[in-house]
Amino acid sequence: MATSCKHPLLLSLISTFFLLTSALLSEPDILLTFKASIKDPQNSLSTWSNTSGTHHCQWAGINCTATTTTTLSVTSLNLQSFNLSGDISPAICGLPYLSELNLAGNFFNQPIPLHLSQCTSLETLNLSNNLIWGTILNQISQFGNLKVLDLSKNRVEGNIPQAIGALHSLQFLNLGSNLLTGSVPSIFANLTELVVLDLSQNTYLVSEIPTDIGKLVKLEKLFLQSSGFHGVIPNSLVGLQSLSVLDFSQNNLTGRVPQILGFSLKNLVSFDVSENRLSGFFPNGICNGKYLINLSLHTNVFNGTIPNSISECSRLEVFEVQNNLFSGDFPVGLWSLPKIKLLRAENNRFSGEIPDSVSMAGQLEQVQIDNNSFTGKIPHGLGLVKSLYRFSASLNGLYGELPTNFCDSPVMSIVNLSHNALLGQIPEVKNCRKLVSLSLADNNLSGSIPESLGELPVLTYLDLSDNKLTGPLPQALQNLKLALFNVSFNQLSGRVPYSLIAGLPASFLQGNPDLCGPGLLDSCSDDQPRHHSSDLTTLTSALISLAFAVGALIIAGGFIFYHRYYKQRAQVGLWRSVFFYPLRVTEHDLMMGMDEKSAAGCGGVFGRVYIVSLPSGELVAVKKLVNFGIQSSKTLKAEIKTLAKIRHKNIVKVLGFCYSDDSIFLIYEFQQKGSLGDLICRPDFNLQWSVRLRIAIGIAQGLAYLHKDYVPHLLHRNLKSNNILLDAEFEPKLTDFALDRIVGEAAFQSTLASESTLSCYNAPECKYTKKVTEQMDVYSYGVVLLELVTGRPAEQAEPSESLDIVKWVRRKVNITNGAVQVLDPKIKNSSQQEILGALEIALCCTSVMPEKRPSMSEVVRSLQSLDSRTHGAVIDFSSFEEH
Ligand SMILES: *[C@@H]1O[C@H](CO)[C@@H](O)[C@H](O)[C@H]1NC(C)=O
Ligand SMILES: *[C@@H]1O[C@H](CO)[C@@H](O)[C@H](O)[C@H]1NC(C)=O
Ligand SMILES: *[C@@H]1O[C@H](CO)[C@@H](O)[C@H](O)[C@H]1NC(C)=O
Ligand SMILES: *[C@@H]1O[C@H](CO)[C@@H](O)[C@H](O)[C@H]1NC(C)=O
Ligand SMILES: *[C@@H]1O[C@H](CO)[C@@H](O)[C@H](O)[C@H]1NC(C)=O
Ligand SMILES: *[C@@H]1O[C@H](CO)[C@@H](O)[C@H](O)[C@H]1NC(C)=O
Ligand SMILES: *[C@@H]1O[C@H](CO)[C@@H](O)[C@H](O)[C@H]1NC(C)=O
Ligand SMILES: *[C@@H]1O[C@H](CO)[C@@H](O)[C@H](O)[C@H]1NC(C)=O
Ligand SMILES: *[C@@H]1O[C@H](CO)[C@@H](O)[C@H](O)[C@H]1NC(C)=O
Ligand SMILES: *[C@@H]1O[C@H](CO)[C@@H](O)[C@H](O)[C@H]1NC(C)=O
Repeated sequence: MATSCKHPLLLSLISTFFLLTSALLSEPDILLTFKASIKDPQNSLSTWSNTSGTHHCQWAGINCTATTTTTLSVTSLNLQSFNLSGDISPAICGLPYLSELNLAGNFFNQPIPLHLSQCTSLETLNLSNNLIWGTILNQISQFGNLKVLDLSKNRVEGNIPQAIGALHSLQFLNLGSNLLTGSVPSIFANLTELVVLDLSQNTYLVSEIPTDIGKLVKLEKLFLQSSGFHGVIPNSLVGLQSLSVLDFSQNNLTGRVPQILGFSLKNLVSFDVSENRLSGFFPNGICNGKYLINLSLHTNVFNGTIPNSISECSRLEVFEVQNNLFSGDFPVGLWSLPKIKLLRAENNRFSGEIPDSVSMAGQLEQVQIDNNSFTGKIPHGLGLVKSLYRFSASLNGLYGELPTNFCDSPVMSIVNLSHNALLGQIPEVKNCRKLVSLSLADNNLSGSIPESLGELPVLTYLDLSDNKLTGPLPQALQNLKLALFNVSFNQLSGRVPYSLIAGLPASFLQGNPDLCGPGLLDSCSDDQPRHHSSDLTTLTSALISLAFAVGALIIAGGFIFYHRYYKQRAQVGLWRSVFFYPLRVTEHDLMMGMDEKSAAGCGGVFGRVYIVSLPSGELVAVKKLVNFGIQSSKTLKAEIKTLAKIRHKNIVKVLGFCYSDDSIFLIYEFQQKGSLGDLICRPDFNLQWSVRLRIAIGIAQGLAYLHKDYVPHLLHRNLKSNNILLDAEFEPKLTDFALDRIVGEAAFQSTLASESTLSCYNAPECKYTKKVTEQMDVYSYGVVLLELVTGRPAEQAEPSESLDIVKWVRRKVNITNGAVQVLDPKIKNSSQQEILGALEIALCCTSVMPEKRPSMSEVVRSLQSLDSRTHGAVIDFSSFEEH
């Protein structure tokens, strides 16, 4: 590392030397000199060789242009994502016509290579997504000819220097996703050519928006989101005549959005000021431009009404004003805009009705207007919108009957009309074959539960509680793979289908005294409907209230009980076992062992891996899964074998498994220190930082191995601190990985759903996409890293009581010194820089946008470079700055 920390003067001497000598060298020699200082583990530059017989213009990543009639000269070098590291040699500036150098997406770990300013023809320099560190020095001004400078996604720190203002030709400046600090100086007066300016994701900036940005008349895109901008949006921004995209979201901006802004910025396509503290009126002028597509003001404190003129924005696709204090009638014209896709207005005080003309919104996909004062009936027109997949309007005053076509959109997945005043019957639902979640709780619905609900193939949540529904529970509901089933407090009667009591769904049946079944007050011992004599009625109702209390306990503590109870009675002898290691264990041992511990720890009861002590005295870690019997036992064995073959120091060994028709016990090797989750929950959790960092690196390595190195590539899909075991040396080991392969996708989804409906380890996109990605694991990893950094458990015992950890941290880090405040006070101050670095990584991993999250191998590298024992950069750097 020490070699990367040379004095700038020395650097320029060296580069002058290179220039002098390289002027005499041929282009292939210059390229070979450049290559000599580069580490190229993938051999991506194998064509770069005199012996390959190819002309150097054909070498990988090289583009030439004819500079005379007989000579081709190298004009561009594009080595993006070649997995390169080592030193960026100034020798490259010996190429007199080099105008573009793209080294993005590599692993260069050094300060900004100022010596490249010697490349006299250089116009484009892209170093994005490397491990570049250190401050931006004043010598940056030597890059006077640069048109494109991309330093994004590195670890550049310190203040933005005034000297950048000297890069008069710049058209594109991206300093996003770095560790810049302080206030952005007035540097823009001379950067009149700028078309794109990106200072986003620099959470340590503490700055007002510089007023001279308004001088950038050619600017088309301005990205300041998720940085530390505070204060008001300056009026001077009216000067941004060409602006089409403005993103100021997730800052700490206050005051009003100047009305004049919208009237001046006539080319605006996207305007996002969400998640600030902006107040006052809706910025009506914003809609003056004809091109507006995205408008997002959500999570501020705007108040007043929204004028109907917004519906003149005929191209509008996204309209998000949720979580404000808006009131008055919701602009009726918005409902029928031809391009509108997303309408979000929840958590305001809007009134008004949904017009039948909503049928004209042919692109409408999502409506969320929960927690307002909407009234009126749900129009027939809504059912005609065939693109609608989410309609959520809970906590309003909607009344009347549900139209028979309310669920006719073939893509409809989520309907939430709970807490309204709907009347009449629930219509038969036939067309919404993709319906996942239906909540009609707390209305005045009557009649019986439609049979057709049982035919919806993916219905997982069904909440019909607090209505006046009568009649029996349709037997067809047994067909569903429900995770939650709630019909409490209705007037239902008859026998409860067996699987709704004994199976997976968390069933809520109380408040229906005429329902009967095993475990209920009335166990249906005789199949005839019972007749209570009137003197028994008082006793019965007393018993019923007792049953509520008992029922609540049963429901909370578990359908595990039922599950086990029935299994033990019905399925003894049906167990089969496969062991990859010599083990003496029966399923009875496992079940007894899991019972004893089932209430321990602070995490959810269902999601965890249990430590079980076998009668032989051995300890094993056990995970119980519900077997839906979708996989044949051959597939099951093959899949578990795939997992059992993994050998990595950070992945726990699978010792074997037992399975019956309805359960699978996976047996993992025991780890002495138990789960990380339990450790963090303990009030005396007090690990020193170096141990926490080692744990963080280990987990990241295990995940990176699953994602990239193991064949087949696997996703973990349920990473949380409870699923990370620690050995005697605190080396972490992942458990509970890739269970989707064992139980099948559908069953996995519903197991997860039943385990942790609102788990804060799940990436936000899990709510709306079925596509499973590595980035979701990265998000969960980020949450675990936040737990290590803050010393707080991610999932508090009382979830409603506090913010989830990601939100909690994000709120704090935006304020001055806020980042320091979230760190676990029990860790020594001397490690603070490292911990802040880890916090930064955790924040990247928990980015809302999946594509902004790093890969696990990037995380491993970044964490390793934090480790002060292997990396001297921080120390070297301070001496570097003194000169
Ligand atoms: C590579 O080839 C070029 C000409 O094709 C020649 O000038 C140069 O000396 C060679 N370099 C080496 C290291 O062989
Ligand atoms: C070389 O230039 C051509 C035309 O400008 C372009 O299509 C090609 O992608 C470039 N190749 C590389 C490796 O940059
Ligand atoms: C870079 O390395 C990763 C794995 O570390 C590999 O998947 C990728 O293909 C490599 N890229 C190139 C261009 O060799
Ligand atoms: C720099 O490279 C990155 C990574 O490939 C790319 O996303 C970005 O657009 C490039 N920057 C410019 C200014 O072209
Ligand atoms: C703009 O350029 C002029 C002349 O080159 C210089 O005097 C002035 O200081 C520059 N302004 C900024 C803000 O860099
Ligand atoms: C509008 O927002 C959507 C997602 O909210 C995004 O995919 C799209 O790129 C945005 N369009 C513009 C022009 O910014
Ligand atoms: C709107 O908010 C502003 C300040 O944020 C306040 O002065 C004003 O009274 C509020 N208006 C309404 C109607 O609540
Ligand atoms: C409903 O919205 C108000 C703000 O208008 C908010 O204070 C309240 O917490 C919300 N209620 C629910 C249940 O989300
Ligand atoms: C439906 O809305 C209610 C009230 O806003 C909310 O508590 C509940 O979680 C929602 N249900 C689903 C499944 O989204
Ligand atoms: C925003 O800035 C104000 C001071 O201007 C500060 O009091 C507040 O805590 C900050 N809020 C956040 C979320 O950073």
